[in-house]
Amino acid sequence: MTEVIKVDPVNPEAEKIRKAADLVKKGEIVAFPTETVYGLGGDAYNAEAARKVFQAKNRPMDNPLIVHIADHEQLLDVAKEIPDKVMEITQIVWPGPLTFILKKTDSIPKETTGGLDTVAVRMPAHPVALMLIRESGVPIAAPSANTATKPSPTTAEHVKQDMDGRIPMIVDGGETFFGVESTIINMTVSPPALLRPGPFTLEELEKLLGEIYVPPQLKGIGEFDKALAPGMKYKHYAPSKKMVMVEDNSIFLDAVKMISSKRKIAVLCSKEVEVKVPPQIPRIVLGSEENLYEIARNLFSAFRKLDTLDVEMGVIQSFPEKGIGMAIMNRARKACGFSSIRNLKEAEQYAL
Ligand code: TXA
Ligand code: MG
Repeated sequence: MTEVIKVDPVNPEAEKIRKAADLVKKGEIVAFPTETVYGLGGDAYNAEAARKVFQAKNRPMDNPLIVHIADHEQLLDVAKEIPDKVMEITQIVWPGPLTFILKKTDSIPKETTGGLDTVAVRMPAHPVALMLIRESGVPIAAPSANTATKPSPTTAEHVKQDMDGRIPMIVDGGETFFGVESTIINMTVSPPALLRPGPFTLEELEKLLGEIYVPPQLKGIGEFDKALAPGMKYKHYAPSKKMVMVEDNSIFLDAVKMISSKRKIAVLCSKEVEVKVPPQIPRIVLGSEENLYEIARNLFSAFRKLDTLDVEMGVIQSFPEKGIGMAIMNRARKACGFSSIRNLKEAEQYAL
């Protein structure tokens, strides 16, 4: 049985958080909200807790976890040879949705880092996550709280769908704020390399760090042949239904009409586009194009919703690849398994 404990996300009740922290201290794992998505984690110093995380998620052991800290001094316990620049900017950006890859200390077991000698670290901007880490007295190693291959959970209900009976506790702090996972930047290379776009935008990062290497795989289309980060080689965030992205929004409606004449589809689109979608086609509205943060927040629940509809596939529109739009496009392309439609000729192939 998985116990679900509802907490106030802004002023979490200490006695409830302590129950979760007691589990962490005992080497157990718990799910908890962060400002990005729900995490599933345990004591970052405990190899056995890391193993439990991999097992509950069905996650390959070589896909490392993110170590969550609650105080700046804690960084020195988990990472070493930290560049001065990182010491400086963590004072500005943390707590927040930015994860740094750094050299790990001996306190962090290889199980947590998937055998690597580097560690991913962030300080989440969520009162529940911060209180849980402080009450546990240790950093918490946690990936997203979904089953591997499922989209990351943005509500406790999503976590329950994937983890019921597999973990002792879910701390329910309501819907998460950003809805996409943190930005990951590798600071062990020069120039620093972006490994995953997220809510902390590339534009903001460039202001703080100067030149940043952005692997072409993170933008354009086409499957990677070489994984950027250990986790990136696995199919992530994917609904079980087939999805395809229409790269050029000016042909979106024509492509949708063409494909829907042959197949049962649902569209995933903005509310601006939704009003033009033929009424018989099921649709999942992601939010307004005026507010990409809203689109990001609804993206993963839209993927989960698609799986519940009686359709063969989902067709998603594209969004500007700027700001948080880069994270939206990156997650949407992964969910599509990199299938995309650039013109009506390509759309025809989906209408066979
Ligand atoms: O917002 C987030 O980042 C959420 C919340 C819970 O903090 N966490 C999360 O973790 O989404 P997840 O499931 O994406 O797993 C951690 C990611 C993987 O893609 C992994 O490859 C990468 O971080 N990662 C961890 N350690 C790494 C390392 N040493 N080098 C390169 N990538 C690493
Ligand atoms: Mg994940």
